[in-house]
Amino acid sequence: MPVSDLMSELTPEQGASLYRPGYRDTTPPPTLKTDGETIALDESREIFHPSFLMKNPNSGIDEKEFYFWDLNGYLVLRGVMDEEWLAQANATIDKFEDQIVVGEELAQGSKTLAGTGRPLLGGLTQLPSPYCDPFRRMLAHPVVEHRLNWMGASGGRTGGGTAFCSVKGTSGHSQHGSNEPLNPTRGYIYQNGRSYCEAVTVTWQLRDVTEADGGFACVPGSHKAYYPTPPGVRSCDDHMGLVKHIGVKAGDVLFFMDGSTSHGTFAWKSDISRRGILHKYSSRNFNRSGGELSHPEKRWGDLVSGMTDEQMAVMRGPDRDVFTKNVPRLEIADGSVVASYERGGALYSKDAPKGPVAKK
Ligand SMILES: [Fe+2]
Repeated sequence: MPVSDLMSELTPEQGASLYRPGYRDTTPPPTLKTDGETIALDESREIFHPSFLMKNPNSGIDEKEFYFWDLNGYLVLRGVMDEEWLAQANATIDKFEDQIVVGEELAQGSKTLAGTGRPLLGGLTQLPSPYCDPFRRMLAHPVVEHRLNWMGASGGRTGGGTAFCSVKGTSGHSQHGSNEPLNPTRGYIYQNGRSYCEAVTVTWQLRDVTEADGGFACVPGSHKAYYPTPPGVRSCDDHMGLVKHIGVKAGDVLFFMDGSTSHGTFAWKSDISRRGILHKYSSRNFNRSGGELSHPEKRWGDLVSGMTDEQMAVMRGPDRDVFTKNVPRLEIADGSVVASYERGGALYSKDAPKGPVAKK
């Protein structure tokens, strides 16, 4: 049967589904409108493409911000703190400067980042009033909390702020945090119309920072990388032009995906010390910082009395073996299940038991 005769015997909708592309009368292609039960040829030929995910104009999300965050893995909000707030916070750090503790050197063999240990001032939210005030204001701040909510949903938590007070000569921190090896609970995915960023660091800036000074740098977009970071990018000794310094002004707030975006710092070169107040936020799904809940009896009370070490090993709170051998876990030895306490990387589990816990 010639095609023209066939077409005359079909409904317009049937004919439309047999169209051949490339002809004047098939450009643009025909549109078949459906509702699941009926079908109709739509002469307008406007694209019909149903979705149940509708854009929500009342979400309060700034689309440009969302795009920037999703693409780069970091975000800077400008001018969140006013002059008075900044002055209070800076004066407090001046006052407690003698409590700054110089920690580890973090260049990890890098020539570019080499220097002295990183000076930190912790416990800012526990300082006596009024010194804690400028730092407590940083907690549950609506401007920050709103972003945390769209970045990873409600239910996030932090341990409070720590001041990073690098001085001239302080080492940089080699690039890290690019979720290698993969731990989904600290990662970033976008699914079903929502952002699931499980680990976010929020840094309140008390002073301007330029590239000449040093400070925070990251590999924008690395949270979407599928391959391991080359050693030279980690050390910045052969950075391939991929490590970007992020300039900030006093009063700005910097967010970054601390579990999934490769990030670190450049060595500090300024005569004026760094003043960044870091808050690490864990999402409702992220299992770091189990703290005392890594001891089953703290979480469950009497419910675990009489349990064996093997049973206790699966009754902990939020700490999990998220990296390598950093909490008790079960292994098979000679055909039996045994609890192992051997420690490997222990970044977030200093409270986890180091040996048997069952009370015999
Ligand atoms: Fe980090």
